[in-house]
Amino acid sequence: MKTILGTSIDTAVRLLQAGEVVAIPTETVYGLAGNALNPMAAARIFAVKERPAFDPLIVHVGAPEAVFRYARDVPEAARRLMDAFWPGPLTIVLPKREVIPGIVTSGLPTAAFRMPRHPLTLQLLRQLDFPLAAPSANLFGRLSPTRPEHVLDQLGGRIPYILDGGPATVGVESTIVQVSEDGARLWILRPGGIPPEQLETATGLPTTPAPAGPIQSPGQLERHYAPTRPLHLVDSLEAWAAQHPPDTHTAFIAFQRAPFAHPHLYILSPEGKLDEAAARLFDILHQLENTPGIRRIVAERVPNRGLGIAVNDRLRRASRR
Ligand code: TXA
Ligand code: MG
Repeated sequence: MKTILGTSIDTAVRLLQAGEVVAIPTETVYGLAGNALNPMAAARIFAVKERPAFDPLIVHVGAPEAVFRYARDVPEAARRLMDAFWPGPLTIVLPKREVIPGIVTSGLPTAAFRMPRHPLTLQLLRQLDFPLAAPSANLFGRLSPTRPEHVLDQLGGRIPYILDGGPATVGVESTIVQVSEDGARLWILRPGGIPPEQLETATGLPTTPAPAGPIQSPGQLERHYAPTRPLHLVDSLEAWAAQHPPDTHTAFIAFQRAPFAHPHLYILSPEGKLDEAAARLFDILHQLENTPGIRRIVAERVPNRGLGIAVNDRLRRASRR
């Protein structure tokens, strides 16, 4: 199959209506989209990604009101979150209605909903009479794509079309949240583009990590993104380098400043901005995957607040072998 990269919403609409899968831009990462109401389209997504069936998909909607057609019960706190952050990098898990097929949610009674904030994809969603199931547009276990070229690298030849919306501005996946059964707290199932303190401010509810158990966060595998090079996570590159003289087969990712000169040293944000660090992280990792001669990556943790929480989460998962 030839994969075309283009900006035609009409082409994307036609393919999606025919049950095909298409890569779409979002503000977080590129998604691999199909009709969320069509089990065959969902099956195509799993097949193209080589994704295991126990890992459910996020359902993308073009307007907050659409959620009421697909979710059975939308608690007050969830409405507040939709008002405050949609369109944006927040996914909300809600009890689903029958119309969402079981393959989309891996058999769970809930579905994850998000209204993405990318003009092309919002326009696309408004032209469709169904929502879009879309996981990140990478092969299972590989790095999430923040540019159309990243999608082409991994999925070229497997999908007919990539809707080119330029580089993603947020750069890490959405925060996934669920209102607890008693309505008293917000469970963070995955840290991401909206920091927990903003969720607390919008709802007046405290956030907590999801209670342990298989149901709440399927797919949140410890070893999530396995870089094609081993990644070692440290508190400080400077301290690490004092013990291990840097060689040329190692690449380094620093937060704000370079503690030593090295041909493969990348800085996430020279101004020390966590949103910039999040936006650059996957891009740098993609570059390193394509740099010959690099045998390992050493990265330092960033300050664990705001978007830094999501950055540290992705670095930690990448470091699991
Ligand atoms: O930013 C994003 O969220 C991107 C863009 C494309 O929207 N999408 C994304 O999808 O990151 P994906 O498939 O890589 O991650 C989806 C995760 C699943 O692994 C699972 O942990 C969680 O969402 N999820 C989906 N449905 C769920 C449900 N019903 N209950 C709990 N978690 C769910
Ligand atoms: Mg993913």
